Amino acid sequence: MNTSFATTSYIVAIALFILSLSGLSQHESSRRGNLFGMIGMLLALIATAILIPIAGFGPLLIALIPGALIGAFLASRVAMTSMPELVAMLHSFVGAAAVLVGISNYLGGTHGLAASDLTVHYLEIYIGVFIGALTFTGSIIAFGKLSGKISGKPMLIPGRHLINLAMIVASVVLGVMFMSNVAGGEGLTPLLIMTAISCVIGVHLVMAIGGADMPVVVSMLNSYSGWAAAAAGFMLSNDLLIVTGALVGSSGAILSFIMCRAMNRSFISVILGGFGTGEGAAPGGGSAQPQGEVTPINVDETADLLSEAKSIIIVPGYGVAVAQAQHSLAEMVKLLRDAGVNVRFGIHPVAGRLPGHMNVLLAEANVPYDIVFEMDEINHDFPTTDVAMVIGANDIVNPAALEDPTSPIAGMPVLEVWKAKTAVVMKRSMASGYAGIDNPLFYKDNTRMLFGDAKKNVDALVAKLRELVTA
Ligand code: TAP
Repeated sequence: MNTSFATTSYIVAIALFILSLSGLSQHESSRRGNLFGMIGMLLALIATAILIPIAGFGPLLIALIPGALIGAFLASRVAMTSMPELVAMLHSFVGAAAVLVGISNYLGGTHGLAASDLTVHYLEIYIGVFIGALTFTGSIIAFGKLSGKISGKPMLIPGRHLINLAMIVASVVLGVMFMSNVAGGEGLTPLLIMTAISCVIGVHLVMAIGGADMPVVVSMLNSYSGWAAAAAGFMLSNDLLIVTGALVGSSGAILSFIMCRAMNRSFISVILGGFGTGEGAAPGGGSAQPQGEVTPINVDETADLLSEAKSIIIVPGYGVAVAQAQHSLAEMVKLLRDAGVNVRFGIHPVAGRLPGHMNVLLAEANVPYDIVFEMDEINHDFPTTDVAMVIGANDIVNPAALEDPTSPIAGMPVLEVWKAKTAVVMKRSMASGYAGIDNPLFYKDNTRMLFGDAKKNVDALVAKLRELVTA
């Protein structure tokens, strides 16, 4: 009875996870997608608990209750700008869980499996622990880089590709030793040595990735954490964990591919690290020195410019999340649209610090979906636009990506705001963005710099525009 209820619940949970993923692919259905995911996870937890013998409830509750409380506390307190770090940290937990499940499965003996199944079982353990260990340490380094606790600069050790290759070859050799020694109970030593090597691979791979390539790392670790969960599912013979892990693993892989395409990078070059960090500048750290003269503008002049424009494209970036300016921005857009101005948003695929970061912020502020456009859909409209308004964005509007082949972000498609009649850039200072490089956009003749916090400036613009519109 319990088993059939659990099996049915697992099937329903899997269907809900698939519906959740498809819901999350569209703005309009994203809230519903989230809800499906939450119900699916609740169902999965209940069904799994039901499968556990009553005697096992004590340890389960000891793990579950503090875990749920800590998770709820952290998630409710986390600032939107710290979300990427939180996600990276959560990926590391999945990796650690896969390692622990693998090692305890090995220590747990043969589980009554037939000799023919044992080979597959031990192979699952070895691969699961390898992926888990790499995900664990790689995600911790990603957490450090995203939170600024570790420098964003790529750590490029001489001969790093050879070092990686040597570590992978060593893991394969240890795998052969593990498989040929498990029967005699001597597999633990190669398993533990491989775990240590895989931990070093995780650190080394992510340390070598710098600045603007971090989005790919985040989605790649997301994918690895899915495969680690799937591997744990195989070890525990849990179908739900296998399917869920595969869903996360494959969707993370697709996202990494999309990110690479958006940044005009090859997947392999990002994974191997150090791409685009040639002789010129080292990305990361946000410390590049300004390289020219800028033309400042104040709030009143900007309000005049906006109210006289017929068409405006707003390009939001990470600074909107920092300033929490999305609601004020939505108010400003409403005022301008009510006054007959054609206002649209241009969203770069790696704007902010998380895939879809800007879309989430705009959805939170109830900005209508039909005025939010992807980079490819809107980039050709800048030459016929009166004002391009860059708010808290930097790298994603940097012309050096297209004009300077030595730039660390060379080749990355960017929103070509400088082609508009006037580009207004709203930010607090001349500081560089995540990639840590100067931005020639700021020195162009048709660029105006509106210095200050994005929320304060947009609030001031709203007040001024209201005067102008009602005058
Ligand atoms: P950035 O290039 O990081 O630029 C953001 C700008 O916002 C900064 O130059 C900063 O200048 C300004 N800013 C910060 N707080 C502000 C505030 N309160 N008010 C006004 N401005 C503020 O961001 P972007 O243009 O969105 O580009 C994203 C970058 O992050 C890319 O390099 C991307 O590769 C990387 N990245 C993305 C992701 C994902 S998945 N999206 C993940 C990791 C890394 P001031 O300090 O002068 O104000």
